[in-house]
Amino acid sequence: MTLPLNDQAIAILKGNDRGSYTVPTKGLYPYQWNWDSAFAALGFAEIDLNRAWVELETLFSGQWANGMVPHIIFHEVDDGYFPGPGVWGTEGVSGNDLPSSGISQPPLVATFARKIFEKDPAEGIKRVGPLYDKIVAWHKWFMECRGESGAICVTHPWESGRDNAADWDEAMANVDVSGVGEYQRRDTSHVNPEMRPTKRDYDVYLAILYYARAHKWDEKAILEGGPFRVADPTLSFILLRAHRDLVWLGDQLGKDTSVIKGWIASLERGIETLWNPAIESYDAKDLNTGKFSGNVTSAAFLCWYAGLTDDRVLSHLKRLLDAAPHGVTSLDPENPDYNPKRYWRGPVWVVVNTLIGMGLDEAGHKAFAERLHSDSARLIEQGGFAEYFNPEDGTPAGGGTFTWTAACWLAWVSKELGEG
Ligand code: GLC
Repeated sequence: MTLPLNDQAIAILKGNDRGSYTVPTKGLYPYQWNWDSAFAALGFAEIDLNRAWVELETLFSGQWANGMVPHIIFHEVDDGYFPGPGVWGTEGVSGNDLPSSGISQPPLVATFARKIFEKDPAEGIKRVGPLYDKIVAWHKWFMECRGESGAICVTHPWESGRDNAADWDEAMANVDVSGVGEYQRRDTSHVNPEMRPTKRDYDVYLAILYYARAHKWDEKAILEGGPFRVADPTLSFILLRAHRDLVWLGDQLGKDTSVIKGWIASLERGIETLWNPAIESYDAKDLNTGKFSGNVTSAAFLCWYAGLTDDRVLSHLKRLLDAAPHGVTSLDPENPDYNPKRYWRGPVWVVVNTLIGMGLDEAGHKAFAERLHSDSARLIEQGGFAEYFNPEDGTPAGGGTFTWTAACWLAWVSKELGEG
């Protein structure tokens, strides 16, 4: 007998739970990933509030001395994943004994901590108290080490959470991969290589990583001479929203939040530099060349989540939703690089739908939010809790039994359907 979807989602969270942190999925991603963990916490908050807080507390146990919270924390060595801790080589430079990657990921924590807090404010005060300064330090790191252009940049495609998005193509084409040498990927032994980034993509990922490792992960060296610095709508929108929620959390704790309010004002201005008039959308911009990527991607639709209300990309959203029965496509289907199977170059991600949907709801675009709810629900009902889905026929793709898809079901999709 098949279990109801709520029970299946809970079973996935529990199956991926490693006690104090949750892996995205067994096999393909065997460690703690940053923004996946924030989603896991949101999902756990539906069934076990204490476990939700523990997830965030464990994430911050990997925080670097400079405030950065890594995109992967390698709690227990697992040979099934490449590149592992030995390749990142951050030991001895992070100021933290836990092995980790050397880059960060979209900062959902303040926003989701607020949502978890609101479920039980008395517990929330106790748990956010010790986390608050750590979150502030992380946001400060973003503003100082990734905020030079006004918007927030990534120094590695993985930092955006949208690994092989078309946004990075031109900047990646300029990266010299001649020194990369031989290596053994592990992702393609877990899932179909057609769905994964290409070999050339992986060469570039490693070339960028090796540059930073050779410079001992020194942020100044990475910003000044790094091979890859691209201002990113995902990080910019998510951080802006997180700043707003951090002010809210600070207010609960009676903190002075004036510095964070200053960051909000400056990031609101900075995000304007990501407006590409040629495509009438928010766009990624290569800081090494000053050029826009020229791609309409789902990241642009995070503007409402960020609290912006200008509606300038609403017509693109409508167009993308009309173009594929199971939207939102991660890349515009009219783009020559669109591919409905390949990771961030076309497929629909329920996690992104959730963030976009939350923003649309808050901005009063109820019909659009409703469309994203029902699309996400149908994808999960038909294809299970996959990593992502083909937007044309709804086939599940990538890793199966994914934590964040299950968490989105529990915390957003099923609720909006009245099943929560
Ligand atoms: C991939 C995704 C990234 C995610 C990670 C773990 O690298 O692109 O966003 O955090 O997998 O699920």
